[in-house]
Amino acid sequence: MKYLPSLILFLFLSSVLAYGFPAGEVKIAKVDTTGSPSLKAVLPFPIGAALKVNLLKKNLNYRNVVLREFNSITAENAMKFHALHPAPNVFKWSDADYLVNFAEQNNMRVHAQTLIWPKSTPRWVTEFHGDREAWKNLLRMHIQTVVTHFKGRVAAWDVVNEAFEDNGAYKKAIWLEKIGPDYIALAFQYAHEADPDVLLFYNDYGQEHGGKKLQAILNMVSDFKKRGIPIHGLGMQMHVVLRINIKNLQRNLALIAATGLKVHMSELDLSVRYKKPHEFMLDPTLAIAQGEVYHAIVKAFLNVPESQQYGITLWGIGDRDSFWNSKSKSRTHDYPLLFDHSYKPKPAYYKMLDAGRKR
Ligand code: XIL
Repeated sequence: MKYLPSLILFLFLSSVLAYGFPAGEVKIAKVDTTGSPSLKAVLPFPIGAALKVNLLKKNLNYRNVVLREFNSITAENAMKFHALHPAPNVFKWSDADYLVNFAEQNNMRVHAQTLIWPKSTPRWVTEFHGDREAWKNLLRMHIQTVVTHFKGRVAAWDVVNEAFEDNGAYKKAIWLEKIGPDYIALAFQYAHEADPDVLLFYNDYGQEHGGKKLQAILNMVSDFKKRGIPIHGLGMQMHVVLRINIKNLQRNLALIAATGLKVHMSELDLSVRYKKPHEFMLDPTLAIAQGEVYHAIVKAFLNVPESQQYGITLWGIGDRDSFWNSKSKSRTHDYPLLFDHSYKPKPAYYKMLDAGRKR
């Protein structure tokens, strides 16, 4: 009899873990995960998160969630061009090195992001003067210095990020202007020369919608294959919303998988702010609805052939640190991630766990 309270608690916790919280009873801030399984223990593919170095160093709750739940990490900003290479002959490695050391000490994979992203080009690069050859040398020097620095310590690089517009045209970029469209293939070649063992990804948003952008990316992959340009994976960013069309996602995921490349959901988060006032709470109904969509996304990912499942990376840990919430103050607050403001798991977390369980 004296074990009855523990038995009841055990049965309650197991049913919560198996089925999520019953509607109307979600106590997001009071969930206790002591002893519960983790994402990395349950999901059959690598599960990652984009990390902010300062939070990892200073916030113990944040750090504990990272250690408990994830087996892959990505620098949210520390490996971008402007962060690593802020001036012509200046490289700043300390934050990125901190992350790579952290991963090594804790048996985590590093998925590195990103060598070339138009939005992270520092001013000194845009002000650089030179002919096409000089620009190619600049591109090569940056890529090869960075790839060589992390050689053997990161599993993969997002080589080029966001090179296409939604209509399939090349996105405006200094490299496009100075070198031409082949800057993308050159970036992959340069990275491969510096580390022939590291996996090379192309990363972009909106591929889940298909259309001209996805077609342009698939055309690029076929062209690379024909020309022998090394590419090993495609990263779908997956900054998605509650109304995401799951059928469309499944269809476009299948097209991406048909390339034979590895597939990465590389920046997953799920906005719930549509039609909401500037400030609003994540109520239980909305939290559960968000969980259902996370569940459907993981299920869709599990349809990718196993050998191509590179993993899913969440773009942040707690809702408070989501980059969506650090945008302009006029933007509506959002709750796109798996953990709440005090780093407690939300229904979305339990739904992801649930989706990874074998039936
Ligand atoms: C974002 C970071 O989250 C922000 O902190 C930073 O200010 C800007 O970049 N697509 C990407 C990511 O590929 O690198 C971006 O990360 C988010 C959109």
